[in-house]
Amino acid sequence: ARVRHYKFNVVMKNVTRLCSSKPIVTVNGEFPGPTLYAREDDTVIVKVVNHVKYNVSIHWHGIRQLRTGWSDGPAYITQCPLQTGQTFSYNFTLTGQRGTLLWHAHILWLRATLHGGIVILPKLGVPYPFPKPHEELVLVLGEWWKSDTEAVINEALKSGLAPNVSDAHTINGHAGPVPSCPSSQARRLSVDGGKTYLLRIINAALNDELFFKIAGHNMTVVEVDATYVKPLETETIVISPGQTTNALVTAGRSTGKYLITASPFMDTLAVAVDNVTATATLHYSGTLASSVTALAVPPPRNATSVADRFTDSLRSLNSKVYPAKVPRGAVDHSLLFTVGLGINPCPTCKAGNGSRAVAAINNVTFVMPTVALLQAHFFNISGVFTEDFPGNPPTVFNYTASPTTGLATTNGTKVYRLAYNATVQLVLQDTGIIVPENHPIHLHGFNFFVVGRGIGNYDAKNDPKRFNLVDPVERNTVGVPSGGWTAIRFRADNPGVWFMHCHLEVHTTWGLKMAFLVDDGKGPNESLLPPPADLPRC
Ligand code: C2O
Repeated sequence: ARVRHYKFNVVMKNVTRLCSSKPIVTVNGEFPGPTLYAREDDTVIVKVVNHVKYNVSIHWHGIRQLRTGWSDGPAYITQCPLQTGQTFSYNFTLTGQRGTLLWHAHILWLRATLHGGIVILPKLGVPYPFPKPHEELVLVLGEWWKSDTEAVINEALKSGLAPNVSDAHTINGHAGPVPSCPSSQARRLSVDGGKTYLLRIINAALNDELFFKIAGHNMTVVEVDATYVKPLETETIVISPGQTTNALVTAGRSTGKYLITASPFMDTLAVAVDNVTATATLHYSGTLASSVTALAVPPPRNATSVADRFTDSLRSLNSKVYPAKVPRGAVDHSLLFTVGLGINPCPTCKAGNGSRAVAAINNVTFVMPTVALLQAHFFNISGVFTEDFPGNPPTVFNYTASPTTGLATTNGTKVYRLAYNATVQLVLQDTGIIVPENHPIHLHGFNFFVVGRGIGNYDAKNDPKRFNLVDPVERNTVGVPSGGWTAIRFRADNPGVWFMHCHLEVHTTWGLKMAFLVDDGKGPNESLLPPPADLPRC
């Protein structure tokens, strides 16, 4: 194993997209940011220097951070952010993981432009469990906002209303020609006929789940969230913010140009979404300039059946070499968390008529602390958080019917405590309060197995009988269906404080977040390591 050093200078950069320019926060002046490359078992040290006016922290989304929670990155959860002029070296080892992940800013809405890919190759000499591709291509999907994203969210918080949506989706930072800017450049993926390519697809968007398609080409999904899956052939990939998908595509033609699209998936028509599809082209070598591009028709934004078919078909590879280590039998903690929106009073919110949109888990709207939770835990600083996060909804009601009461939520900085190595089953139930909506929930510090999923109210008696405990897909971010539920299982084998939240940034901002506190184990390698000397303290 090697040590890989990276230097991230966080700097402003003027960038032109959609026919207009604005200064954006970048790493090393690049948008999207640089891709980190390493191998399984390597140690990665990223020296981050903050040269911008904002406080910054960087999260390595999906990296387990075994015992190194200090390098996880969410501001005020595992560290205080780097202030202007500060430096911090994130230092972590890639234990038992290989595949595609992403890094992104984990403070304010800075991840709109502060993000990039992470590629973890298998250990030297270890092959992929699928045919070796001719070439590998990283595709970062995102959103472009003509206005300043910090202004967008600040405006929304003041009014109490939902923020504006982005102006176009992007593929590797570019939207392709769109009505508001026909001269916008599309990225070109150059391929040779007869060769197979591995696409490492990352959804780095703030607020939109996406459909991904290539005209005239099926894809074979071989990995999601840096875990191998049984090969799944599909026309359309569904990918939520924070998720990653590796797919093989064979250039099975001899020449031609084929449109690639990234378009929104939002099953609730009541929620506004950026409807501008990003395009790129799959371009065969030897194609005449005059040749016409074959079009891809993206699914409608509310094509829930397309999304469901894809999601329900994913299975862990569960091979001899890569077994699915699903916690089986009775679990130590059986939790039910409702996720959804609410409305709280806000006397100053004029546009919102004296109330503001909020979001909650089990009716708790999480309030960010001013001292990082991990620091408070490690140094026994009292008064920062309480340990009374409810393991079950405080009031039982029909989650999918229209609500009568109970729109207001409780504010608090509450965590749920787990013993080292405890097994957890967590059912995430979407509520129809305000509006049912698909929420991609991300858990830091762990991979989990998605053992079940259904529409309507979770039935604790009958639904578990149908759980897949053999080869469920293993991920770090999972969509909770609109007006439905998703059940996950994981083992609390990583001591520290671990954030869990909706990866739609607007919902995180509104409070759809909480944290698990996992105690140290008794064994020699079962405790949280001490904080690095240069960790920014609060
Ligand atoms: Cu990708 Cu807590 O985030």
